[in-house]
Amino acid sequence: MDQALEEASKEFLVRYGGDVFPALFRSAKGTIVRDTRGRDYLDFTSGQMCATIGHNHPAIVAAVHRAGEKAFHFFSGMIPEVVAELAQVLARDWLPGDLTRSIFINTGSEATEVALRMAKMYTDGYEILVLGGSWHGITGGASAVSMASDRKGYGVPVPGIFVIPEPNAYRPYVKGADAEAEALANLDLALKLFDMQSTGRGAAIMVEPVISAGGVLVPPQDFMQALRQAADDRGMLLIFDEAQTAFGRIGKKTGSEHFGVVPDIMTMSKTLGGGLPLAAVSTTAAIEARLYERKFAYYTSHVSDPLTAEVGLAVLDVIQREHLVARANEMGAYLRGRFEELQQRYEVIGDVRGLGLLMGVELVTDRASRTPAHALGALTTQKCFENGLSMNIRRRPERGSVWRIAPPLTVSHAEIDQAIDILERALRDSLDEIARDKAA
Ligand SMILES: Cc1ncc(COP(=O)(O)O)c(C=O)c1O
Repeated sequence: MDQALEEASKEFLVRYGGDVFPALFRSAKGTIVRDTRGRDYLDFTSGQMCATIGHNHPAIVAAVHRAGEKAFHFFSGMIPEVVAELAQVLARDWLPGDLTRSIFINTGSEATEVALRMAKMYTDGYEILVLGGSWHGITGGASAVSMASDRKGYGVPVPGIFVIPEPNAYRPYVKGADAEAEALANLDLALKLFDMQSTGRGAAIMVEPVISAGGVLVPPQDFMQALRQAADDRGMLLIFDEAQTAFGRIGKKTGSEHFGVVPDIMTMSKTLGGGLPLAAVSTTAAIEARLYERKFAYYTSHVSDPLTAEVGLAVLDVIQREHLVARANEMGAYLRGRFEELQQRYEVIGDVRGLGLLMGVELVTDRASRTPAHALGALTTQKCFENGLSMNIRRRPERGSVWRIAPPLTVSHAEIDQAIDILERALRDSLDEIARDKAA
């Protein structure tokens, strides 16, 4: 049966041009994922960065059961009670500033589409500023504002997109520059160029509080404040994409709280559904009122979905009851400490960065040159997987090789220790193998 399904997966599925795994996957619990060959892996990516409360959490299982008992589906304008409850909980307990009005959809890409539609209709503009290394999703509008993906081969992207160089404290654009000063100077220059090119129809500036796919880059505080100012100065809206950063991952309720900067629109997704397809976009009552006047609409067959809303409520409740926001700080500090110990011993670990349990570890050939160690990154990631640790590596020629590490917020000290042991062994073996190949 296992073998037959492995064959079926090869024969009947559209293949993905990225990572390929040797087996199919069957189950998961907490931090552990199990494949069809009975092998267990520590999941240090929380699936697609979604399973923040751990896989197969009893609260999620119960919520799915409750919603499954009802198993209804309404016309898009007919709001299920549970969706109203989720909107209320978000506004009351989680959203910053005066963000109070929400809409619920399914994926982060869709959340980006909603945010862009809101900003365009509200401002009557269409120009969007985004950061280098950004990732806001794969659908048409979302991929047009995403700079971290391969954009080749999919036709003409949506027009009106402008790029601000991303702040990178480890790898400033000008080697040796003061990274924070450079980030602000680059922003200033990007805005001058934007003003030169703009048709006067600016709609929004969109940013991830931690630029994750772009290499887990944490922007400086001043930079985020300057984005707020830049949007205000131009009558544009500021959008925070909190797909990964909301609801505890970075040790705060939101990235907005971390920076003390409140956006006009916030998108949330991965961490809200805990593994189920739930996303939200929130804005202020004033913006919502103007959109309503203009007959704003965004709906798919699964807008305001009751099943995922039930799960979202359960996820938020678990994060509060199990104090997972504080736990992300505590376990993040422990994980960072373990990486910093490794960094003392391995010249190839150039940088350890991130917030809470969203961490980036950048590999270099040596610390003086900071040359990206792509082959080492790929080999070590593969060896980690073979030894039971699933990790994600971001590799871009211009940005280096960066492990993105984001285990569930429920991860234990023992699991972190086990992951670090696997990783160290994989790193040592990979360094030996590369040295042997060079010598041969
Ligand atoms: C910051 C950010 N925004 C948006 C998305 C898109 O979300 P989805 O894959 O759910 O469409 C992602 C997914 O990786 C993301 O990391």
